[in-house]
Amino acid sequence: QDDACHRRIRAARERLGTRAVLLCHHYQRADVYQYADLTGDSLKLARLASQTDAQYIVFCGVHFMAEVADIMSKPEQTAILPDLAAGCSMADMANLAKVERCWRELGEVLDVEQQVTPVTYINSAADLKAFCGARGGIVCTSSNAGTIAAWAFGRREKILFFPDQHLGRWTGHKMGIPLDEMEVWDPDLEMGGLSAEQIQRAKLLLWKGHCSVHQMFQPAHILRFRNQHPDGLVISHPECSFEVCRQSDFVGSTEHIVRTIKEASPNTRWLVGTELNLVNRLAEEVKHEGKIVQFMAPTVCMCSTMQRIDPQHLAWTLENLADGRVVNPIQVPAHEAELARVALERMLAVS
Ligand code: 13P
Ligand code: SF4
Repeated sequence: QDDACHRRIRAARERLGTRAVLLCHHYQRADVYQYADLTGDSLKLARLASQTDAQYIVFCGVHFMAEVADIMSKPEQTAILPDLAAGCSMADMANLAKVERCWRELGEVLDVEQQVTPVTYINSAADLKAFCGARGGIVCTSSNAGTIAAWAFGRREKILFFPDQHLGRWTGHKMGIPLDEMEVWDPDLEMGGLSAEQIQRAKLLLWKGHCSVHQMFQPAHILRFRNQHPDGLVISHPECSFEVCRQSDFVGSTEHIVRTIKEASPNTRWLVGTELNLVNRLAEEVKHEGKIVQFMAPTVCMCSTMQRIDPQHLAWTLENLADGRVVNPIQVPAHEAELARVALERMLAVS
């Protein structure tokens, strides 16, 4: 049955030719990733989506990535997500109603429009990107967060960063902001659970959100690795906790992790704090150079939503497209897309 599914994918791709391009995030499962035309981290995929001329952009990733592809592509192009249930649990930790409430509450103690730049991680719904676009704010990804935060601080004295507190904290730390000038905003509490003094003193307000995959990695995993392999190197994604990032030799986006290990000297050993599909693929790709690549956690942690894009969904999507039926299009409402594009284009111009 699996072979039949792969035959269907190959046949449909042949019928579609250059009308469809398959964009794949690094976390995609191997049985889908093998069909990628283009791969990358969120920033690279956002750029690629804005540059392709293909009629159909089949996004093997999660919902917010397909939304970005829709926003950044031309009106006659269509972004497609093979399974609409492929969301991002971190992106779901912030929504427009809660962010608008936060903005209102900040307005009770600050001149919020003058003092605060809203910065949303690209792992967020399109309406939050639109919120930023409308308020002089911007989008960032894990690979450009430092540059974007510097841009934001150049305009206003404070940043409201959502939804990933860990990326925000690590970025602030790398810029030299002391931890006691960063506060966590809990969207389920009145005034985020903060006093007026805490809000006035904070340079960086960090939304209380996190990634369920990256929270599995612990400093104890790094300690055990270093005891066993004193010459080993540790690389982590900035969605990991502050302590994990602090104890890593390198911290960066998925593209950065792939590039760093591929460009490293042969016969090196690596502990990697990011999703399992990426780590397994990388381990295979570099083992002929004597490089050993280990996953950080003892348990299996995959991005379960990304995993939903499987060969069955891909075959079904491509066959329908080849027959002229568009399935699972991702269409951001025009007014929202326009403002979200402002925040995304600011990001692309700055980074
Ligand atoms: P990258 O932009 O580094 O690929 O990260 C996306 C993501 O969702 C990581 O969990
Ligand atoms: Fe979202 Fe985490 Fe999956 Fe990345 S790994 S897409 S942040 S749930």
